[in-house]
Amino acid sequence: MAQDGLEHTQTTLEELGSAPLPPVAELGSQFVVQPHPNPTSDADWQTAMNELKFGTRFSDHMAVATWTEGAGWHDHEIRPYGPIELSPAAAVLHYGQEIFEGLKAYRHEDGSIWTFRPGFNAARFNASARRMGLPEMTVEDFVGSIVAVVRKDERFVPREPGTSLYLRPFMFASEPFLGVRPAREVTYMMIASPVGPYFANGFAPVSIWVTRNYHRAGPGGTGAAKTGGNYASSLLPQEVAAERGFDQVCFLDAATNSNLEELGGMNVFVVRADGSVQTPRLTGTILEGGTRSAIIRMLRDNGTPVSEETIAIDALISDISSGEVVEMFACGTAAVVTPIGHLASDDFDVKLPQTNFSESVYNQLVSIQNGLAPDPYGWTYRIH
Ligand code: COI
Repeated sequence: MAQDGLEHTQTTLEELGSAPLPPVAELGSQFVVQPHPNPTSDADWQTAMNELKFGTRFSDHMAVATWTEGAGWHDHEIRPYGPIELSPAAAVLHYGQEIFEGLKAYRHEDGSIWTFRPGFNAARFNASARRMGLPEMTVEDFVGSIVAVVRKDERFVPREPGTSLYLRPFMFASEPFLGVRPAREVTYMMIASPVGPYFANGFAPVSIWVTRNYHRAGPGGTGAAKTGGNYASSLLPQEVAAERGFDQVCFLDAATNSNLEELGGMNVFVVRADGSVQTPRLTGTILEGGTRSAIIRMLRDNGTPVSEETIAIDALISDISSGEVVEMFACGTAAVVTPIGHLASDDFDVKLPQTNFSESVYNQLVSIQNGLAPDPYGWTYRIH
């Protein structure tokens, strides 16, 4: 890690994720296309494009591939989007052996379609797969599934600013078997959903309840993997936060119950009055977010010192109260960048000022994603 917070040392995922991808023309052909016999009508498509609620409508096709022990990955297909047949004994339904990813396809002003750091998501997918006893995938299969679906369903990539086609690759234990061991048959799928802002209020400060009663992940656990169980375990604390009138819940570390970790679906950043920025360091219990990684890189290149460190909640609250911390924000692929306006728990309740720092981070990032600013990092990848 860079000591002065200016020079950027890559993490393993960043390094793996920045390896050059094959040319797009070479990707996706292993997925045999079964076209939808009854694609979305123009009227329904228009309704979907007008709504753009997060994760509620899906494009016409999905990618599927199967892995079996000994044979590896096979039967790559693009199929009509729809329900799947799954044995009630499928191991995922019993033991939660599952992983997923989230990334987006953006339409640029000239009509072309791009995605953002798919190699990073491919690398993280494999890291999650290793932790969850699932098989790894080649970047050709992972990115190829995205290219094949987006190519087929390009009309579902919306055009309005702040919109995109949310891409959800996932993998699960489909073997019908009730013994507890890694499954010998696994299914990979990739579905796509046209979306607008994740939060109904758009770019507006959210309120956060810091829970001292629940933890998202423990040392040696699955916190760094993008697996459904981490999200399932956040649902009750999220409900408790909502009952208290807060938008989101924030978790502290399980070992000491005193250090800031993440929101469950988003990483967090702290902006200090001296112009420096902090974010919790990757301890193995936090998900290494792609948006987190992009923001650290951009800020350091802008000359902003960014430290990845242990952030004690008590010190943070006193620094907010004294004015030494001037802003906080959360970030993730789905929600991009969201300012935090209010932070509370059983023993504190503080409001955070807004200095427009998070808005400038948001603007810098989405300008690259939407092709409105140059991409000095090679993060954008044209898929159509
Ligand atoms: C994302 O930001 O893409 C996430 O995975 C968060 C959430 C929607 C699960």
